Amino acid sequence: MASNALENKVAMVTGGSSGMGRSIALGLAKHGAKIVCCDLKQSANPNGYEADKDVPTADLVVKNGGAAIFCQIDISNAEQVKDGFEKTISTFGRLDMVINCAGYWAPFRTFAEEDDELWSKMSAVNTLGTARMCRSAIQQFLKQDVDLKWGSRGRIVNISSCAGNFGFPGEVAYSATKAAINHMTRAGALDHAKDYINVNCVSPGVVATGMARQNFENNAIHETMQKATPWPRLGTAEDIAEAVVFLCLPGSQWMTGQILSVDGGMTIGVPPPS
Ligand SMILES: NC(=O)c1ccc[n+]([C@@H]2O[C@H](COP(=O)([O-])OP(=O)(O)OC[C@H]3O[C@@H](n4cnc5c(N)ncnc54)[C@H](O)[C@@H]3O)[C@@H](O)[C@H]2O)c1
Repeated sequence: MASNALENKVAMVTGGSSGMGRSIALGLAKHGAKIVCCDLKQSANPNGYEADKDVPTADLVVKNGGAAIFCQIDISNAEQVKDGFEKTISTFGRLDMVINCAGYWAPFRTFAEEDDELWSKMSAVNTLGTARMCRSAIQQFLKQDVDLKWGSRGRIVNISSCAGNFGFPGEVAYSATKAAINHMTRAGALDHAKDYINVNCVSPGVVATGMARQNFENNAIHETMQKATPWPRLGTAEDIAEAVVFLCLPGSQWMTGQILSVDGGMTIGVPPPS
């Protein structure tokens, strides 16, 4: 449902060109937020499931009557991240929300088959990149006043993964970097609760996006994922966006440091036999 609850608020969404990030950007814009779509490229992941993926996210927000810009950022590059924050402030004058959705995943392999190159890339994007975005956001939030009606000085929502909550075979480096996101959420939230800065995290299960398409199209993997998910269907980008938007609205102002699993029950236990 649309509202003006986030009117005059500005959100940077990393990974905003595709999948969950795109859906989150569109969801926040429905509540009046101005969007800075931060991504490696403006075009959506070509493997994505979005019906309108030929229209870039920022263009779609503007077409729907909102305000948005695209900002080319690789979150693993400190200089580009700095430029992205400067562009956001010079365009919209402030920053209220950062959604850290950009992530790197590589197809399954065993722990023994992983190498330093994979770990470096996973760490640079998923862990360091997310931490860098969080720190830069908090530094900007601290320059701004608390909005008592909204309940916050600024909000961060990180995106981790169910693979960060429990061991996931074939994804050791990915799981470890996603678990790091869960924990930086908790520890970062503790440091900045006194500043009225909320740091929360959404931990998705298996979601139909370009990143996951090869798993959806592999019958054996798809069947395993569905069996591990108690809910009768796997996830959509909108399932994740709804939870992230909630974590940006006034009603969630007293929540911080939380890892909200949105996973069709995947992390609550072993589903009964079907
Ligand atoms: N799809 C799933 O099943 C699933 C499950 C759990 C967690 N996740 C996580 O959800 C997040 C979103 O992924 P998605 O499934 O929507 O995939 P997606 O491929 O649809 O979108 C990811 C977007 O992030 C961008 N991106 C990648 N690296 C970047 C970087 N270094 N800097 C800036 N942008 C970058 C890509 O260009 C792409 O537009 C990721 O963090 C992913 O790890 C996905």
